[in-house]
Amino acid sequence: MKVLVLGATGNLGSRLVPALLNHGHSVVAYVRSSSKLESLLPEPVYRQIAVVQGDAKDSAAIKKAILDSGADAVINTAGMAALPPWGKSDLPEIFRAVVQGVRQAGEERNKPLRAWFLGGLGVMTFPGTELMFSDYIPIYLEHRQDLALLKSLPPNSIDWSLLCPSTMTPESSDLSALTSKGKLIANATHPPLWQDYWVKNIPLIGGYLSCGMNAPRYETTLEQNAEFIAGDLETLESPFSEKTVGVIDPK
Ligand SMILES: NC(=O)c1ccc[n+]([C@@H]2O[C@H](COP(=O)([O-])OP(=O)(O)OC[C@H]3O[C@@H](n4cnc5c(N)ncnc54)[C@H](OP(=O)(O)O)[C@@H]3O)[C@@H](O)[C@H]2O)c1
Repeated sequence: MKVLVLGATGNLGSRLVPALLNHGHSVVAYVRSSSKLESLLPEPVYRQIAVVQGDAKDSAAIKKAILDSGADAVINTAGMAALPPWGKSDLPEIFRAVVQGVRQAGEERNKPLRAWFLGGLGVMTFPGTELMFSDYIPIYLEHRQDLALLKSLPPNSIDWSLLCPSTMTPESSDLSALTSKGKLIANATHPPLWQDYWVKNIPLIGGYLSCGMNAPRYETTLEQNAEFIAGDLETLESPFSEKTVGVIDPK
């Protein structure tokens, strides 16, 4: 597939580029600064990709980049959600612009694009309830409005998935020999391999404690998540279409 990556200079985006190439995809990086990207990526990696300079808040430029490059899929890692519940970041504006650009490009082509977006563990649903993780631990709340936007889209406008990892740490800063600790287990809607602790039965605070005890189990690496998305884009019909997707390292 030809994949347009927004945020390719970031922690996840810079690992997605070599992971996508390793999976046989071709890559178009959409970045604010091509020189920053060139300084980050190993020369043999940078040589293999196309680069478009633009702002991720500019939906018309994103649409044009998709149509001009002939991209079949888009991954948005641009923007970073604010942590405190009262925090504000550029992410909602970026997210809206990317959704609009991807949707309009699909409309013009008469075929919805496949697109991966980034959310966080907070928008996964607490097993056995309709509540989200962030109903118990209210951080990174901007992901909730991003998910609401995706869910409000008319059918067949974007073939989207929202990856909802907990903290992602780097395995290595060497982007030329991208290795990953091992495959993640993924699950739609509810976090995979959820552990039921007895504390969940404690009135009022049980759900909160259960989330707090489970959360560290969902830490993964940037490389594992890059590998996961790159692998999913090899499938023509993803099992994660129009779903939130939780991931865990089974080890
Ligand atoms: N890191 C984690 O542990 C973690 C966990 C869960 C979810 N997430 C989510 O995953 C996503 C990626 O995380 P990350 O750690 O890779 O983020 P990051 O390292 O902060 O990267 C953010 C990227 O966004 C780009 N960007 C920001 N504003 C832009 C704009 N207006 N136009 C174009 N590009 C813009 C930055 O480009 P410049 O280089 O030009 O600034 C950078 O490449 C975020 O949405 C985050 O909320 C992250």
